[in-house]
Amino acid sequence: KIIYKSEYRPQIHYSPKGNWMNDPNGMVYYEGEYHLFYQHTPHDTRPDFSRMHWGHAVSNDLVHWDELPPAIPPGEDGAIFSGCAVVDKNNTSGFFNEEGSGLVAIYTNDGNSAQPGKPQVQSIAYSKDKGRTWTKYEGNPILFPTETLDFRDPKVFWHEESLNWVMVLAVRDRVEFYTSSNLKEWSFASDFGSDIPGIHRGIFECPEVFKIQVDEDSDTTKWILILSVGDRNGVNPNDSEPPAGGSGMMYFIGDFNGKVFTLDETLESFDTIKWIDYGSDFYAAVTWDGIPNEDGRKIWVGWMNNWRYASTLPSKEWRGHMSIPREIQLRTYSEGLRLTQAPITELNQLRRPNLSLQDITIKPDTNVLSAVSAAKMEIIAEFEIGTAIEFGFRVRKSSSSNQETVIGYHVLNEELFVDRTKSNDVDFHPDFAAKHKAPMKLEHERIQLSIYVDWSSVEVFGNNGTTVISDMIFPNLESTGLELYTLGGELKVVSLQINDLVSIWEN
Ligand code: FRU
Repeated sequence: KIIYKSEYRPQIHYSPKGNWMNDPNGMVYYEGEYHLFYQHTPHDTRPDFSRMHWGHAVSNDLVHWDELPPAIPPGEDGAIFSGCAVVDKNNTSGFFNEEGSGLVAIYTNDGNSAQPGKPQVQSIAYSKDKGRTWTKYEGNPILFPTETLDFRDPKVFWHEESLNWVMVLAVRDRVEFYTSSNLKEWSFASDFGSDIPGIHRGIFECPEVFKIQVDEDSDTTKWILILSVGDRNGVNPNDSEPPAGGSGMMYFIGDFNGKVFTLDETLESFDTIKWIDYGSDFYAAVTWDGIPNEDGRKIWVGWMNNWRYASTLPSKEWRGHMSIPREIQLRTYSEGLRLTQAPITELNQLRRPNLSLQDITIKPDTNVLSAVSAAKMEIIAEFEIGTAIEFGFRVRKSSSSNQETVIGYHVLNEELFVDRTKSNDVDFHPDFAAKHKAPMKLEHERIQLSIYVDWSSVEVFGNNGTTVISDMIFPNLESTGLELYTLGGELKVVSLQINDLVSIWEN
């Protein structure tokens, strides 16, 4: 595990031992294991799209991961792009006549990167040994495009109400739904998105649809449509753009009847589009399939990156890492329903309490945290706004230079922000040095924050996960200082807890 000690290497996030990684794929829970497949170029630290594989890791707790050999390699059929995996419990595919059940992966074969003009198609493969080896189906491909080369990233789930498999697919500037009884033959059901004004400025990728309970104590459920959007096709000024630019994720709340997704409200313009994350590094997230019913949680990870600069990151023997796994909930607020994200409770096993404070008032130009030194940590805090105009944390601070990453709240603007302009290595791409802001209302004059800091990232969950900012940073390892600051007036710290975090690679 020595390799995980090199510069910038994430200590509490998954990254492959070496070389390139992008989207999480095929996330499925099966016979006691969580599988994480991912877009992987095992021979290069840059993305080689014509030779894209599915990399593979497994975990018992979603926190500690074992990397396995790449699961699905490219071949005559083209590169293996993003997709999903399902448990075929009742052998609907007929692949598991002896075993009774098994895993089926549904993914995009990309031919276009090697042979321009060759369209993307969908294919399947099956595994009878808990995802260790895969056989590509002889009848591949199982789905062809009709009019566009961009036809990819299938996410499939079992729709209990109609007793069918449903696939949602990204098709340039819309998504398409298909249904199937056997995972091999698919019929077009409907599409969504092309008639929503200003919905996007580029290209749709990695869609998902799932059912979720509204609030913890209700019987109501809703359907959520998730979309990753990328900016490959230039800018239309009337179209939406992810809040931090480049690659971003949006979501829609509505209903799904097995064939058609209908929005709860009519979207007038892109102002009403709901964004998942206000940082620049959370993309292509989709949820784990097959999590046991009694658990009931919706859990996902995203690729902590942005296509704008992904292949220029200053890491050396590998490029790309995942976010921490997050639980998604749908909760009712005065302004309506809202998707929230929170670190999964399994992460709590990494905590080693460092410091805790309660009911103190702090003044400008003092730092009650000057004794703390940590390159990775969890910060959980609740503040009551006194006369402060802005307050927050300066993390990964250097004692010898002005290196720092600021995670703060601006009271008058009611804005949460991450400022990484002074976070050290920021010059590898002109879009990297930036301050990312997110609207976040004060609730009863209070603000709650949960923050995960790692060797090369910060993930900020504001007001119990209603507002999230995920950003990579590349500070020196010696930058371990921490400061709690307030500007313009006093701030009351209702509670503050700092936990050191044990590296997930330590045992
Ligand atoms: C999203 C994406 C997908 C595609 C994959 C290729 O980041 O562009 O649309 O399948 O990455 O690696």
